[in-house]
Amino acid sequence: MKKEESLRDCLENLKNSDLYPFHMPGHKRNPGAGEMARYMDIDITEIDDYDNLHDADGIILRAEERANALYGADETHFLVNGSSSGVLAAISAVAGRGEKIIAGRNAHKSFYHAVYLRELDVTYILPDPEGLVNPKGIEDAFDKNPGIKAVFITSPTYEGMVSDVKKIAEITHKNGAILVVDEAHGAHFGLYKKLPESSVTEGADIVIHSLHKTLAAMTQTALIHVKGDRVDREKLRRFLRIYQTSSPSYVLMASIDSCIKDINDNGKEVLERLIRFRKRIEAETADLTWIRIPHFSKRQDPGKVLICSADGAITGQRIYDILRLEYKLQPEMAGDTYALAIITGYDTEDGISRLIEAVKELNTRIENEQSNCLGSARNKKDKKENIEQSSGPVELPKTVIPFYKAWDADMEEVDITRAAGRVAGDFINLYPPGIPLVVPGEAIDKELVRKIGEYINDGRNVQGVKISAKGERTVKVVAPM
Ligand SMILES: Cc1ncc(COP(=O)(O)O)c(C=O)c1O
Repeated sequence: MKKEESLRDCLENLKNSDLYPFHMPGHKRNPGAGEMARYMDIDITEIDDYDNLHDADGIILRAEERANALYGADETHFLVNGSSSGVLAAISAVAGRGEKIIAGRNAHKSFYHAVYLRELDVTYILPDPEGLVNPKGIEDAFDKNPGIKAVFITSPTYEGMVSDVKKIAEITHKNGAILVVDEAHGAHFGLYKKLPESSVTEGADIVIHSLHKTLAAMTQTALIHVKGDRVDREKLRRFLRIYQTSSPSYVLMASIDSCIKDINDNGKEVLERLIRFRKRIEAETADLTWIRIPHFSKRQDPGKVLICSADGAITGQRIYDILRLEYKLQPEMAGDTYALAIITGYDTEDGISRLIEAVKELNTRIENEQSNCLGSARNKKDKKENIEQSSGPVELPKTVIPFYKAWDADMEEVDITRAAGRVAGDFINLYPPGIPLVVPGEAIDKELVRKIGEYINDGRNVQGVKISAKGERTVKVVAPM
């Protein structure tokens, strides 16, 4: 009988394969990435003289202070349960049970989990098509909703778009509220002059960073920073204890400290390399006719390379599949019209060259396909990238029942074609990035049903829709009360 492969065997197979990682984690499985190479023999628990994450006053506190100094925060905590635990703790600390908050709708699921647990009353702001939260939208939401305790935004987005955090912080503070920024994808921000600023220095009160996403630290590692005196820090620590494991891994914590050390020692080099890789990709693909890679700026993270289809010549999912299956390059995700490749300063020259070559060949292939079917090749001046970021809803769905009640209500499972007009009983989202198309308690309409059908037919991963062996598609809706 064939021996069953252990998880470790599967990971070894991946390590030994030719599949190149244009996705998280930021260390890129590159043994040369900072200090990341050596870890197994240091796996301990809280023993004498080794401090305690939940009540740090020794070696862990000093490591947290080193992270704190790097980002310029007033207090920083290590997170070993990812940014997810940081978002849960931050939201729980800034809004009491049933209180009101404003939030960008393009939030990660951990935000929605906090809303559920704390039974919050949320006014959503729909970001613009590129994913930016408009400060004016926040101002209007304050005007219409007295008693708002906090604002929660996601910046950068999964695709690297950076909102005007400074302006949003001013508006939030003018209205006596606290600004929490989910900067999970921006742990490298503010650490080098050509990168976007960090929200820590742009006026946010709490900022959450996933170190594992864009820097060289192990998966699950993250930081939560507090700035100023608006946040009740004791309460924040209480919620960090609630949401994090009581057995925090020293391997993970040491990898956080190594990551900070590597940026302190070599940050300029590492982050300059990221900028150089990005400029190289942009320069060597600038003349392509059917694929566009938009330029990075202070409002778009150089680490997020959007490989966009010009004028819808090819779907994002097809770009993703071709890169993965034919070129052995694993992108991070597929959007409607683009595939997203994450690059960091820990990528290799060879990996970047493979990506550039693959994108060029893909362009030639589409050109051939298009000229075959259109009869003529297109003028490259006509090209127009198509980067609307469609991972969330296009319009805000109507809330019929508060989310925390709907998620606990009795449910029915109905065929998706009969779901229009019903109230969602569960989340439906595209994964990644997992931004909900509909939240429990919201109305499902015909347009949503149509959009979901389109996503599934395109081969996208839609969570919250069950597909049976016979191909029947069902969703959960709230049963009549
Ligand atoms: C915007 C955003 N926030 C938070 C998280 C959660 O991060 P983690 O995986 O570190 O828990 C994610 C994960 O993808 C994310 O995309």
